[in-house]
Amino acid sequence: MSTNSVQEKLTQLLDDAISAIDAADNVSTVEALRVNYLGKKGIVTGQLKQLGSLPADERPQIGRWVNDAKRTLQKRLSARKQELESAARGQQLNREVLDVTLPGRGNGVGGLHPITRTLHRLQSLFVQMGFETAEGPEIEDDYHNFGALNIPESHPSRAMMDTFYFDEHTLLRTHTSPVQIRYMEQHKPPLRIIASGRVFRCDSDLTHTPMFHQTEGLMVDEGVSFADLKGVLVHFLGQFFEDKLHVRFRPSFFPFTEPSAEVDISCVMCTGQGCRVCKQTGWLEVLGCGMVHPEVFRHVGIDSEKYTGFAFGLGIERLAMLRYRINDIRLFYENDLRFLRQFN
Ligand code: PHE
Repeated sequence: MSTNSVQEKLTQLLDDAISAIDAADNVSTVEALRVNYLGKKGIVTGQLKQLGSLPADERPQIGRWVNDAKRTLQKRLSARKQELESAARGQQLNREVLDVTLPGRGNGVGGLHPITRTLHRLQSLFVQMGFETAEGPEIEDDYHNFGALNIPESHPSRAMMDTFYFDEHTLLRTHTSPVQIRYMEQHKPPLRIIASGRVFRCDSDLTHTPMFHQTEGLMVDEGVSFADLKGVLVHFLGQFFEDKLHVRFRPSFFPFTEPSAEVDISCVMCTGQGCRVCKQTGWLEVLGCGMVHPEVFRHVGIDSEKYTGFAFGLGIERLAMLRYRINDIRLFYENDLRFLRQFN
């Protein structure tokens, strides 16, 4: 074969290949063409292999042509591949385009959990009376949860059945009273705080869950008396329930207060006539309170000759149940939307 006809043949081959590449409409066709022309057994590769059998004087010229053809095809193939890929990407972007001006579907607004609402309400009432908020850890040590609060080793609330222990000295706090201790360790009187949060007791029935919420109140200053305690709590309960309630203080016992009292309100269900909720007594117990025990002051280094104070602890679930007339505490933690939606 003359070199001229070899060149013609190559030109023809190149033309055919290029029109096939330009006609390819997807990446896998391009890849098949690459294999067909440039693969190990491809047409152009075949041409290169045949060079050896050509007369020595023609080899360099023809070799250059074949190599040129090879490079041209390589360029063309990868250009076409890129073209197709970016066209595919463009199509995909068009398909997935998001019209941010469309109105949303199912744009329901959530609501706060009734416990959160109750907490907020309670907090704002105490803040209005000049109380500041404080916090303490849910994982407590034995000293802050019991010892510093004058709760003796033998006290029943320390028993394994009530308290969740991690080890001998570490536990889930059983009440918010340890925050009193932590706060008084850090601050000097006068002090006036409330501290809300989760507490834990191994207990579960219609009116008890293993986790519930309490708010602790503490006021310490010179000359704080039981009358101040009474004034603050009667005012709070009247505001909270938005009702002309009867409130009564019943003598009680807590190791960390002396004297101690439990506070009852006239039953919000029957307004004192007697019903199932108040067990026919006409009264509902809502909180525990008392004057800070000198022993507690001693543990935190406050002079009980100079200062006096009161403390109280109330259950948030209990207040929420009475305010919203809920008869089973477990409803708060079942996440049943039919229940929760009623508070939106
Ligand atoms: N900590 C007590 C309880 O959980 C409540 C309380 C707090 C009582 C402060 C008196 C003073 O039952």
